[in-house]
Amino acid sequence: MSSSNGMPLVVTIDGPAASGKSSTARMVAERLGMRHVDSGALYRGVTAARLQAGDPPDLWTEQSVLDAARRVTLVPGETTFEPRIDGEPCDAEIRGEAVTAVVSLVAKMAHVRAWVNATVRTTSAAHEAVADGRDMGTAVFPNARLKIWLVALPAERARRRVVQRTGRAPTAEELEAETLELESRDHRDREQTQPAADALWIDTNGISQDEQVGRIVALAEERRS
Ligand code: CDP
Repeated sequence: MSSSNGMPLVVTIDGPAASGKSSTARMVAERLGMRHVDSGALYRGVTAARLQAGDPPDLWTEQSVLDAARRVTLVPGETTFEPRIDGEPCDAEIRGEAVTAVVSLVAKMAHVRAWVNATVRTTSAAHEAVADGRDMGTAVFPNARLKIWLVALPAERARRRVVQRTGRAPTAEELEAETLELESRDHRDREQTQPAADALWIDTNGISQDEQVGRIVALAEERRS
């Protein structure tokens, strides 16, 4: 798909933790025949690679994290790009609690952000892309033709995250613990989690994922013509 000016169409989907960015972006990419690029998976991949050295995160230098980043690559799948560490699949590892607990520390490092942003841009240049994260519509693709900002209440985001992890409805304790974790990550990530001035907001409370995906696909198709 190309936009009217002949440039490859880029759609950005940003929002806070567990707002459904990645699953939405993957489905939108599938429906439009584009490729999904998940910037959060890169931050997570770098964090997982650095954790393998075993020393405590508060002693990590930015250079040592950048050295770990060199071991992380994005390998094209059918509709998405999968992160690898030393060429090995690492999906379970990057979604685990150890990574989630320290990824925001890594995401604060300016050179790491520059590396992720350059990797996302290079990957997206070769394929029409749906890029998701927190700053895709601001720092990475300020000229994207379609920018989406997803919002959902913390309790709803926590519910979705537990269902994703366990495959069942959360208990009250799980919901409370997950909401606290998400709110503290929102706080740590607040600087880079900003909607672009020209982003379209989609409130996902009370709408199904299909409906959410359908709205974004329709908007992207409008931009196509
Ligand atoms: O899906 P979830 O919101 O849990 O997180 P993610 O998209 O996998 O991103 C994991 C972490 O990477 C976030 O908590 C941020 O610290 C960082 N991140 C970022 O700073 N900028 C981005 N564009 C994407 C992720």
